[in-house]
Amino acid sequence: MNETVRLYVNVDHVATVRQARQTEEPDPLEAARVAVQHGADGITFHLREDRRHIQDDDARRLVEALECPVNFELAAHSGVVELACELRPYQATLVPESRQEITTEGGLDLSRADAGLRDAIDRLQGAGIRVALFIDPEQRAVERARELAVPAIELHTGRYANHGTDHDAMLAELAYATQVARGLGLAVHAGHGLTRNNVGPVAAIPGIEELNIGHSIVARSITIGIGPATREIRAQIDGAGR
Ligand code: PXP
Repeated sequence: MNETVRLYVNVDHVATVRQARQTEEPDPLEAARVAVQHGADGITFHLREDRRHIQDDDARRLVEALECPVNFELAAHSGVVELACELRPYQATLVPESRQEITTEGGLDLSRADAGLRDAIDRLQGAGIRVALFIDPEQRAVERARELAVPAIELHTGRYANHGTDHDAMLAELAYATQVARGLGLAVHAGHGLTRNNVGPVAAIPGIEELNIGHSIVARSITIGIGPATREIRAQIDGAGR
């Protein structure tokens, strides 16, 4: 049996390149549209509290202009939750966030009651948004997510992706967490650090419905796309009519 796994392309790092120059290109919405034309089922972005890549206006344009499902990643910061509730994307994935990190480093810590997280879940669900919690592939975290009454989890694949050895053990951990979650009626998504070289075994885990992939796709776009981009500008120079 071959179920299709939905691919959500994360466009954060399109905005990272734009922010390096504080200019207008590349546009995450334009990139999102191309990704959808080429097989993405949905688009993900992370509006961080420090606004290091995606900006509020990007979030608004992505949610309002795209016809595919949009997954708004956010931490439980009141202002960002408020914007998500106003924009009402199809889905919101709650993640931990710290200012010093280069990227999201681990799943949410659900081991203790967190009033801020509870409030964010309630506000997002109250606005009619489907909520997923980004967690490490651990049984206790999956069970806690179920207790928090959300419909979905996203399993952090970082330990699998970044681990040079012991891939099999890390995959087994993901497969087991997926099985526990499915048994509890949770939808299972996964992501972080996935590339064309390591995505196959994760996509093959029965029960995983959705994958979020960003950095590797944007990185590949540069190496695959620098040829046509150079040709384009070469033609302008050569046609300048000197
Ligand atoms: N899922 C979550 C919750 C994330 O925070 C990120 C990174 O923003 C991703 C998936 C995508 O990770 P990557 O950019 O490594 O593909």
